[in-house]
Amino acid sequence: MEIYITREIPEVAEVLLKKNKIKVSVFHGNKPITKNTLIKNVKNVDGIISLLSDRIDKDVIDSMPKCKVIANYAVGYNNIDVKYAFQKGIVVTNTPDVLTESTAEIAMALTLACARRIPEGEEIMRKNKFKGWAPKLLLGIELSGKYFGIIGAGRIGTAVAIRAESFGMKVIYCSNHKNEYLEEVTGAKKVTLDGLLKMSDVISLHLPLTPQSFHLLDKGKLGLLKTSAILINTARGEIVDESELINLLKKRKIFAAGFDVYENEPAVNPKLAGLKNTVLLPHLGSGTIEARNRMAELAAKNIIAVLSQKKAITPVRVKS
Ligand code: DGY
Repeated sequence: MEIYITREIPEVAEVLLKKNKIKVSVFHGNKPITKNTLIKNVKNVDGIISLLSDRIDKDVIDSMPKCKVIANYAVGYNNIDVKYAFQKGIVVTNTPDVLTESTAEIAMALTLACARRIPEGEEIMRKNKFKGWAPKLLLGIELSGKYFGIIGAGRIGTAVAIRAESFGMKVIYCSNHKNEYLEEVTGAKKVTLDGLLKMSDVISLHLPLTPQSFHLLDKGKLGLLKTSAILINTARGEIVDESELINLLKKRKIFAAGFDVYENEPAVNPKLAGLKNTVLLPHLGSGTIEARNRMAELAAKNIIAVLSQKKAITPVRVKS
């Protein structure tokens, strides 16, 4: 058995796979693998570990006639043509749970950075522009007592809500299902999307990218936000109409936006970077040593399970 890993990931994956007598080849580039190189290198593999930056489309899937499993090194799997993989009898897996806390922490980091204007403060210090304490210097927004709106109340949304509640915030959420655990632990109330957008002081996105969620926050929905609102996106860039959001930020129609993900990732709209009321991170949601190690371990275990004809641990299910 042989598998291909499309980029270097923590070595625990390779160690586990080799222990299970699976041959491992790795792409050692310091940029995402190109489609051509990927297609050339996966012809004989029984499985791959892919990244969220690899587009695993029909061409790639067709170039792996022996492939039985695609283990995505991410919880999101919008980079994979899952329906086509299923048609070809390939199991697709992802890495849920193991990155929940890390991603929730980055959502809170962005929230605090936006509310308290941390990057602007940092810039003053690094550029040696601090002239001493001033009554009106970089006034931010206090989170305590404000409404924190979660869109998508799954694992990560719930973990973020728990953190927001511990900051004294009132949690509201909108989701396809009632999340009893979230309600019990944080006192959260389920509301409509429009209601949430109108009421929230912080809005945090925690839903997967699907055809239904593409530009969920379009011009109309973004227009419902309060002028004091902060929008946080650690999910997928395409959920927000980025150019509409830029218009709002420019005109100061919302207070700030904190982004970990971008509509045309890895390209970042230069207008976003030119705005003072944005906090921008390079897709670091799961970027902790702990989460990345657990993701590598889980991806490898999924490969091992499928190649030894057992059930995958965290299979992705296709919605018909
Ligand atoms: C994922 O794993 O899908 C997340 O985007 C990590 O940040």
